[in-house]
Amino acid sequence: MLVMGIESSCDETACAIVSDKRELLSSVVWSQYDEHRRFGGVVPEIAARAHLEQVDVIVEETLKQANIGFKDLSAIAVAGGPGLIGGVMVGVVTAKAIALAHNLPFLAVNHLEGHALMARFTNDVEFPYLLMLTSGGHCQILVVEAPGKYERLGGTIDDSAGEAFDKVAKMLNVGYPGGPNIERAAKTGNPKRFILPYPMKGRPGCDFSFSGLKTAVRHQIEELEKIASLSEQDKSDMSASFQRTVVSVITDRLKNGIAIFKKKYPNAKHLVVSGGVAANTSLRAGIEELAKKNGMIFAAPPLKLCTDNGVMIAWAGVERFRLGKTSSMDFKARPRWPLDKMEE
Ligand code: KG4
Ligand code: ZN
Repeated sequence: MLVMGIESSCDETACAIVSDKRELLSSVVWSQYDEHRRFGGVVPEIAARAHLEQVDVIVEETLKQANIGFKDLSAIAVAGGPGLIGGVMVGVVTAKAIALAHNLPFLAVNHLEGHALMARFTNDVEFPYLLMLTSGGHCQILVVEAPGKYERLGGTIDDSAGEAFDKVAKMLNVGYPGGPNIERAAKTGNPKRFILPYPMKGRPGCDFSFSGLKTAVRHQIEELEKIASLSEQDKSDMSASFQRTVVSVITDRLKNGIAIFKKKYPNAKHLVVSGGVAANTSLRAGIEELAKKNGMIFAAPPLKLCTDNGVMIAWAGVERFRLGKTSSMDFKARPRWPLDKMEE
């Protein structure tokens, strides 16, 4: 079984082909960083136009790299939401056109389900597992029971962790995209120089909040700037202090998640982290340590499969297709699509 997956819900135009035997035939990711860099963030209209210009080229290139044609595919999957609606529409229309022209089954995949199931492609992870899903648009703790079956234990009440990384990067002027640049700056920084608040830490439950942390960073930057403009060392120290705080908050919330999960599934073993922020090495290390302490097995996709890509959509397509869960050609691109309400 070979499934193609198209992703265009944010600022990556991506396509990949995978098999149901967990083989990766090809994967092409075109990041629109250059389009958005001068605005310091993703501009939805520019993203949609760029997806439209690139998607056919990316699909062609993916087939070429896999050395196959449309006729060799078993199905076509696309991220049908949630995301920036213009971009999602470009992907959905493209996938439907391919499905019609080549008589292929059509699978509209939830982008978050793509992140959620990615670790089953790269690691031996069985259902059910506990998932920390942390990306640019989302930050939630979920129990993954089966494709399409998720229990949300908690989520952010304001910003996502990825958003906080991106906003702090903008304040520090370390460059776009934020996460990887904060991580780079943090490498030479002192994580204990700035004392920041730990929102929600120690509270029961699995909810997050990052907006107060972001504001605290801004206040501290403003204080420093009263004296002089920020030095490279100031930026590194703030990056390191911020990153350390985020890791501490996420692992604290996840500790509660593990307790809830273990009560329900005492024999389940895996703790998975995925989504763009899961590319952060300190966060991975923090969650891996937490997994060990709690007798769980840590699993995370390799770094480049954490951020948006076509492989996650193609693989989620495989997981759905083998359960017979194809989508109707009436499917409409969805700006919002909560994972725990998948089948509605
Ligand atoms: O999953 P993703 O590519 O797109 C969404 O679905 O949102 O996640 C993008 C987010 C951005 O906020 C980006 O700054 C963050 O993931 N990110 C990171 C790192 N790499 C990407 N955050 C922290 N450390 C990283 N190394
Ligand atoms: Zn994503």
